[in-house]
Amino acid sequence: MTGEPLLPHGARIVQELLDGETRPVPATLRATANVDLGTAGVARSRYTSRAVHDLEVEKVWARVWQMACREEQIPQVGDSIVYDIAGFSLIVVRRGPDEIRAFHNSCLHRGTRLRTEAGSLTELRCPFHGFTWNLDGSFAGMPCPWDFPHVETDTFCLPEARVGVWGGFVFVNMDHQAPSLESYLEILPGHFAPWPLEDRYLSAHVVRVLPCNWKVALEAFIESYHTVAVHPQLLTTSGDTQTEYDVYPGVRHVNRMITPVGIASEHVEHDVAEQDILDAMFLTRDDPESTVPEGGTARQVLGDRTRRRLAEQTGRDYSSITDSEALDAIEYFVFPNLMPWAGYTTPLTYRFRPNGTDHESALMDVMLLEPVPAGGERPAPPATRHLGDNQSWADAPELGYLGRILNQDTATLARVQQGLRALSAPDVTLALYQENRIRHFHDTLGSYLEA
Ligand code: FES
Ligand SMILES: [Fe+2]
Repeated sequence: MTGEPLLPHGARIVQELLDGETRPVPATLRATANVDLGTAGVARSRYTSRAVHDLEVEKVWARVWQMACREEQIPQVGDSIVYDIAGFSLIVVRRGPDEIRAFHNSCLHRGTRLRTEAGSLTELRCPFHGFTWNLDGSFAGMPCPWDFPHVETDTFCLPEARVGVWGGFVFVNMDHQAPSLESYLEILPGHFAPWPLEDRYLSAHVVRVLPCNWKVALEAFIESYHTVAVHPQLLTTSGDTQTEYDVYPGVRHVNRMITPVGIASEHVEHDVAEQDILDAMFLTRDDPESTVPEGGTARQVLGDRTRRRLAEQTGRDYSSITDSEALDAIEYFVFPNLMPWAGYTTPLTYRFRPNGTDHESALMDVMLLEPVPAGGERPAPPATRHLGDNQSWADAPELGYLGRILNQDTATLARVQQGLRALSAPDVTLALYQENRIRHFHDTLGSYLEA
């Protein structure tokens, strides 16, 4: 006995895999923690009640830092996007090379929505009567100013939200009293130091409406427990039961999971040879054949392949990244709704929002963030693809093999929402370890709702 506290099963497996790495392991991959959050479930009303939604609007969406877009989606001065969240709307605009502003998207005359879509701006002009603002929010004029002697034009500025940038993401916050973005993000910047997301570029952005409360959708993506039922084709190549779930002491807004890839799930009852894992990986991801050398592992072959592919793709040196960074699903959660991934194989980011003011409909954004090639030239940002009602993730070819997996993930969500409406118990029941990120999310959400 060493006297070390016993790690939960998944954390032990992941940390043992890291012990076997032949390259230096980033310290943040070693940071594992599992705060005891008790065994309570989550109240059914969190997902079904209009009153809870209204409270979230007032206590969460109006007050928290939230990701509005990537910096590279507004590369030139004047470029703008519209960020809609739960009935609020902001115009996020690049005012200068290093200055991004966010204005409430409503005309101060009679309220008209100023912008409906992304675009390049030289000013903000209301389509109804022509009130106009400059891109710094100052008032530029209206027709017939003699009829508005009561309007102090010097101070008739568009109300603003705060803006912060981390990892190439533009965050906004409508609460001017809230703590800084830096303090809000807690351990996140430190953890991502080895994987700077500002050195990535957006290669795909797909948005889909999902028929459930935004939290139902979000929670389907912060546990690997569903893999055995939802993604049986992944069991040969993915350590669902061997996943590490990290909830850190004193950290409210961030948690993490690491699902090892290139090992077989413990749900597979027969012996799985390393070559079987490799073959299955290439089967699900439609990649060329390869062979595990005598005494080698599928993870080493796949790790080498990722290091080689990244170097070819970017002209940069990836020879020192571990197999874990090259392969594993290292997914962070940032309260209330952002999930940036740290690994390289699937360079994903998810975001979940209420769909406008509908508490039983959600928007899910999927972003792919590829490393910027040597030289720093970023390809132009892709147009955001909005999938229609009768489309699926597979209708976004830019998502590749992920489309099928995402379809599996979201196929049950309408049934979850229906079942929650009809649930006779007051609470849902959560696993102690594999669903501890959901409990952590709801603890933090509860602290906001009660504040
Ligand atoms: S409502 Fe905008 S100018 Fe009248
Ligand atoms: Fe999944």
